[in-house]
Amino acid sequence: MKVTIFGTGYVGLVTGTCLAEMGNHVVCVDVDAGKVERLKQGDVPIYEPGLEPMVIRNHEEGRLDFTTDAAGGVAHGDIVFIAVGTPPDEDGSADLQYVLAVARTIGDHIDRYAVVVNKSTVPVGTADRVRGAVAEQLAARSSMVPFDVVSNPEFLKEGDAVEDCLRPDRIVVGSSSAKAIALLRKLYAPFNRNHDRMVVMDERSAELTKYAANAMLATKISFMNEMANIAERVGADIELVRQGIGADPRIGYHFIYPGAGYGGSCFPKDVQALARTAHAAGYDARLLGAVEIVNDTQKSRLFELLSGHFGGELKGLTVAVWGLAFKPNTDDMREASSRRLMERLWEAGAKVRAFDPEAAGEARRLYGERDDLQLVERPYQALEGADALVIVTEWKAFRSPDFTRVKSLLSTPVIFDGRNLYDPATVEEAGIAYYGIGRGRSLKGREHG
Ligand code: UDX
Repeated sequence: MKVTIFGTGYVGLVTGTCLAEMGNHVVCVDVDAGKVERLKQGDVPIYEPGLEPMVIRNHEEGRLDFTTDAAGGVAHGDIVFIAVGTPPDEDGSADLQYVLAVARTIGDHIDRYAVVVNKSTVPVGTADRVRGAVAEQLAARSSMVPFDVVSNPEFLKEGDAVEDCLRPDRIVVGSSSAKAIALLRKLYAPFNRNHDRMVVMDERSAELTKYAANAMLATKISFMNEMANIAERVGADIELVRQGIGADPRIGYHFIYPGAGYGGSCFPKDVQALARTAHAAGYDARLLGAVEIVNDTQKSRLFELLSGHFGGELKGLTVAVWGLAFKPNTDDMREASSRRLMERLWEAGAKVRAFDPEAAGEARRLYGERDDLQLVERPYQALEGADALVIVTEWKAFRSPDFTRVKSLLSTPVIFDGRNLYDPATVEEAGIAYYGIGRGRSLKGREHG
């Protein structure tokens, strides 16, 4: 099938590449000429396991192309995806200017029936607005070309994007047009392994499904972080509690890991945007507000533990940080907990020496050259003479460190484990003080110390 994708960000690029992988002829359109050129050369601007070779192969085999030519892009596709960004505006609502600009471009150039598919995460009611924007441009050129608008949210996770896209657990399609649904059924047929994964519904339900999924996952995390904070105070270990509750299949083991708070381009933005949507519809979404507050507080947790350990005297200290990305297997630092930690450390007069397998370049781009940030090439280099080690992102390489080496390199041997990677007893046996998230240690420390 002939497919056009507007936007070569995370969602657009991954979707386009996976659709090309299944044999479709895909054209990706982006306004950024530099990015388009790089993509044509096989240079993928994001770090995503497995993506680059797939982009190169499909491009070489002629199924995947990149262009800035919007008119040509619209002319190409029987199905035209909108996968551009919906950043939060000042009040946290999703900013639809890019989505609607693409819709107008489609309206300007469409010359035969096409299905316009909203892949971007957009507030309920956006399909109507996209339809309106396309229709307005068609009317302006007195054209009667028929088209349908479908809501088809994307559920891929950064770091697992290719896998999620090739093997989705469900494909949500929101539309009332039988013709459009039939076309999407054909497009997604190769993704329907052993049973039909397409869940067809109306547009608004599809739009809300995306927000509900992300808000539910964010709620699980904030819930666990709240439990961790309670565990800390009552002398319980949240890691045991996590296993104890996860065994109940109604709760499950997924997304109940306490930590330094959730980040990324989706949860923070989507929880906020959904709360705004609810507010605009006259409903006060108190649970969503609480999820956001708990997460915001949690992002400061590592700083508070450090500050507590050093009696509030952080000036002049050097803190080693392992992990800058908002989660492993990505170089993305949007809303990352590492940023809150570093910014608070800098405010308090401490220096940061950080290692991340992929995100150093992003950290440099965000913060530039500064005396109080040193980005190093190797994990243990961050530790040399540092006063503490903080784990912010659970990259695999951090899971089983040589604690003897860690101890010998740190000037004060103490680990702040923001993802509960280590067994506290093992760390303490190595002669290193240990702080985790919700492990009841602070209480024990007070009792024994
Ligand atoms: C998320 C959704 O998972 C995905 O379905 C949606 O399409 C986009 O948003 P993503 O933002 O890529 O994906 O990352 P995800 O793996 O969900 O992690 C988000 C954040 O939650 C990370 O900062 C992670 O560290 C944190 N997290 C996740 C926890 O703190 N605890 C957990 O148990 C799980």
